[in-house]
Amino acid sequence: MGKVLVAYFSATGTTKKVAEKVAKAAGEDLYEIRPAVPYTKADLNWMDRSSRSSIEMKDKNSRPAMAGPAADVSPYDTIFLGFPIWWYVAPTIINTFLESADFSGKKIVFFATSGSSGMGNTLAGLKGSVSPTTVLVEGKMLTRVSGKELENWVRGMLN
Ligand SMILES: Cc1cc2nc3c(=O)[nH]c(=O)nc-3n(C[C@H](O)[C@H](O)[C@H](O)COP(=O)(O)O)c2cc1C
Repeated sequence: MGKVLVAYFSATGTTKKVAEKVAKAAGEDLYEIRPAVPYTKADLNWMDRSSRSSIEMKDKNSRPAMAGPAADVSPYDTIFLGFPIWWYVAPTIINTFLESADFSGKKIVFFATSGSSGMGNTLAGLKGSVSPTTVLVEGKMLTRVSGKELENWVRGMLN
């Protein structure tokens, strides 16, 4: 099965908490995807059509920069990748992350948190950011799952 990395982006802490549980259940490394410019409360206001998140999510080609050097994913075979759902899909910084390293031949299992939406077309929006040999698994919404359900899901994904 090889080495496993749990990587996540979290703007307000919800996905971070879930990612920590996933890493604990997997007994593996945790990596935070941090934006070079952190998102302020105003940036995250989806009611404001001119807020930073609104502008980024309207532009499928936006690639918000990450803080620090790209993650070294070379030792890992499986990557759990978590994020909040923004406008029904993954924030475009997830595309930045996927395009910043070589995930050829690796398996990426997505997980997310949201107010109520499911994964929707999330997978389709991320496919173009990895090599055709990367295996993408739609994964699971982990907003309101029990600790036990989360553990069982992580184990199932690792088998
Ligand atoms: C810009 C923006 C857009 C969002 N769009 C959605 C959405 O389309 N559907 C939904 O259910 N929740 C949406 N949410 C709510 C977040 O997905 C939810 O609060 C998430 O758990 C936040 O995770 P975080 O604390 O790790 O950032 C949105 C939040 C933000 C800031």
